[in-house]
Amino acid sequence: MATNNDTIRVRSDQGQLKTCCATLYESDLTRFLLGDSFHPGGLQLTSELGRMLGLRPARRVLDVACGKGTTAVFLAKEFRCEVFGIDFGEQNVAAARSLAQADHVDSRAQFERGDAENLPFADAAFDAVICECAFCTFPNKVASAREFFRVLRRGGHVGISDLTRERTVSTELDGLLAWIACIGDAQTLDGYTALLRDAGFTVDSVKQRNDALEEMVNQVRVKLLGAEIMTKLKKLQLPGLDLGAAKRMANSAMAAVKQGQLGYALICATKPD
Ligand SMILES: C[S@@+](CC[C@H](N)C(=O)[O-])C[C@H]1O[C@@H](n2cnc3c(N)ncnc32)[C@H](O)[C@@H]1O
Repeated sequence: MATNNDTIRVRSDQGQLKTCCATLYESDLTRFLLGDSFHPGGLQLTSELGRMLGLRPARRVLDVACGKGTTAVFLAKEFRCEVFGIDFGEQNVAAARSLAQADHVDSRAQFERGDAENLPFADAAFDAVICECAFCTFPNKVASAREFFRVLRRGGHVGISDLTRERTVSTELDGLLAWIACIGDAQTLDGYTALLRDAGFTVDSVKQRNDALEEMVNQVRVKLLGAEIMTKLKKLQLPGLDLGAAKRMANSAMAAVKQGQLGYALICATKPD
């Protein structure tokens, strides 16, 4: 039987995982490897997700786990929506606010620190919820899916883009997922849609975008190669990064994508009227 101590331990482990994930995505290394948009496909895929969600001017959109605000600012500019972004990382939120100010959309793109599993918003506050490459990192996906449902108005849409994995994966891929602890809990496509359905959503469409993941992994491989050359020439220092291990992991990731063990997908669902 689970004791109070077990419950406290699980909560503290989950808290550590979120902090660890936020810290990883606040680091200069992540920005160096991934650029400003921390998801495969970048803003092109965000635009596609925005169109799938039918975003229009003045729509209230919540970007859950918004990172440094790249998507939220883009949606405020491209679709002229009113966007609220939340992220677990304090520094990410600060960077997102600065970006919105620099791009003169701070009246339409606002940010605050928050947890996807306990959203700091009232029921039915939004027309749409977007969550890119982050659902896979949440320790309690059932709670987050329920929160997406709660903060959406009836008829509102949720759009998720995320890493997908095969049900059974090679030991090598298991090692890779464990290494990047944050994405270790990526689900199968059916797993994601089941989580949304269980929360009350009707799943409208699913699009596989493995090509975007392949492109991102390739970009990381090229950057690691460049970093290796620069460090050998003593023009760059990357303390704390084992370049050899990082290159091996990037190669395993590429093999997993090519074998279809790891993929990327867009999923849109609706809160029924
Ligand atoms: C892969 S990044 C994606 C960032 C952004 N959505 C994008 O596509 O650029 C994952 C983000 O999830 C955030 N995060 C992780 N757990 C979270 C949680 N429980 N609540 C809110 N944000 C969380 C991290 O801080 C990080 O910014």
